[in-house]
Amino acid sequence: MSLWKKTVYRSLCLALGLLVALTVFQRSLTPRQFLQEPLPPTLEPQKAQKPNGQLVNPNNFWKNLQDVAAPTPMASQGPQAWDVTTTNCSANINLTRQPWFKGLEPQFRQFLFYRHCRYFPMLLNHPEKCGGDVYLLVVVKSVITQHDRREAIRQTWGREQESAGRGRGAVRTLFLLGTASKQEERTHYQQLLAYEDRLYGDILQWDFLDTFFNLTLKEIHFLKWLDIYCPHVPFIFKGDDDVFVNPTNLLEFLADRQPQENLFVGDVLQHARPIRRKDNKYYIPGALYSKASYPPYAGGGGFLMAGSLARRLHHACDTLELYPIDDVFLGMCLEVLGVRPMAHEGFKTFGISRNRNSRMNKEPCFFRAMLVVHKLLPPELLAMWGLVHSNLTCSRKLQETEAQEQLELPSPEALSEEQGARPWQPS
Ligand SMILES: *[C@@H]1O[C@H](CO)[C@@H](O)[C@H](O)[C@H]1NC(C)=O
Ligand SMILES: *[C@@H]1O[C@H](CO)[C@@H](O)[C@H](O)[C@H]1NC(C)=O
Ligand SMILES: *[C@@H]1O[C@H](CO)[C@@H](O)[C@H](O)[C@H]1NC(C)=O
Ligand SMILES: *[C@@H]1O[C@H](CO)[C@@H](O)[C@H](O)[C@H]1NC(C)=O
Repeated sequence: MSLWKKTVYRSLCLALGLLVALTVFQRSLTPRQFLQEPLPPTLEPQKAQKPNGQLVNPNNFWKNLQDVAAPTPMASQGPQAWDVTTTNCSANINLTRQPWFKGLEPQFRQFLFYRHCRYFPMLLNHPEKCGGDVYLLVVVKSVITQHDRREAIRQTWGREQESAGRGRGAVRTLFLLGTASKQEERTHYQQLLAYEDRLYGDILQWDFLDTFFNLTLKEIHFLKWLDIYCPHVPFIFKGDDDVFVNPTNLLEFLADRQPQENLFVGDVLQHARPIRRKDNKYYIPGALYSKASYPPYAGGGGFLMAGSLARRLHHACDTLELYPIDDVFLGMCLEVLGVRPMAHEGFKTFGISRNRNSRMNKEPCFFRAMLVVHKLLPPELLAMWGLVHSNLTCSRKLQETEAQEQLELPSPEALSEEQGARPWQPS
């Protein structure tokens, strides 16, 4: 009796299973979809689009099974071109209901209102920039009004090279821009910029306001751009438009490096504390960041990274909410990946010496020995570049002087604790 019951039960189950399998097979649904809810007939997919754009008929998919089983490697990757074409992002007014939000300064309220708007359309693009064999991509954060800085960089450390030496590929340079932050500058300067770009072909511009808090947008837009248009470049140098860079030393440094390394090197701050003094440019309210210190990060004035790491950073940053200080934000993305930025003495983005009158500030032998030095305006940059590339005789004495001054310097963390300020301020 019980045996008979079991047999009936088993056949019933089998029949039901068959029915499910048959329906799944016919409709080419996954079992999960089938169990959720049946599709209305009008939504039944007649033709499914494969990621690579080919059409597949679900009713006879077994005929090209091999085709289905082996998608091209590109199919699973991101977009092949900049895929943001409209700006349609409204303020997150939900925030106005939060008591902590009401107490914030206006610039932080503005930042938080639009923090969820992550990507904007491109106004000027150069997809061809990474064509051919590019070894080092130099990218420079700039703003529309600072054309004299771009000009000085093109004549000095940003000059493109067909070969980085030792059989390596080219060195190419790009400037990263948003739109003019002041209304009255917008139309006039935009035309000048378009003209400048026709002359040099080295401007990437996105449709967001070039403000201090939007520098983080510039960071993530560049990383996304790199992932699309420059996925195979071995190394990237990213910096400000008011620094001195020594490309010979950068290339020398990179000669011993592998593009697969987790290379991220610059002027690294460890355990830097968020600045809580309201009159400071880098002030951050506790409501925005409550921890006592930041993850290690490299000063945004100039740093080097491997291309493969930059692409992973793009995806890591996409998992985080935007933070108003761009270099700290990149430190947070590195933390997601578990990669520690490496400190190097040749990167001086937080200042050389506390003493403004230190002779190091004007010493060409010092600049010749460095990779990046902060804050030189166009005339100073051109003059220093000329000196560094003249017949210099540099003695060891200089290095001793430098070591001496370094000893007298408090550490950058001590500085920020003591004065509530970063010794280096971008303009
Ligand atoms: C923005 O997008 C929403 C939903 O996609 C749409 O309803 C709205 O009309 C759009 N606004 C503009 C200004 O395009
Ligand atoms: C605002 O709140 C509503 C309801 O809680 C939610 O659906 C919406 O996504 C929120 N808007 C934003 C921009 O977070
Ligand atoms: C950043 O740019 C967007 C788009 O132009 C703008 O709406 C937003 O106000 C800017 N954010 C800040 C904090 O300046
Ligand atoms: C640098 O020195 C070399 C040889 O010592 C000389 O031929 C050259 O003219 C010098 N260049 C400058 C700019 O003084």
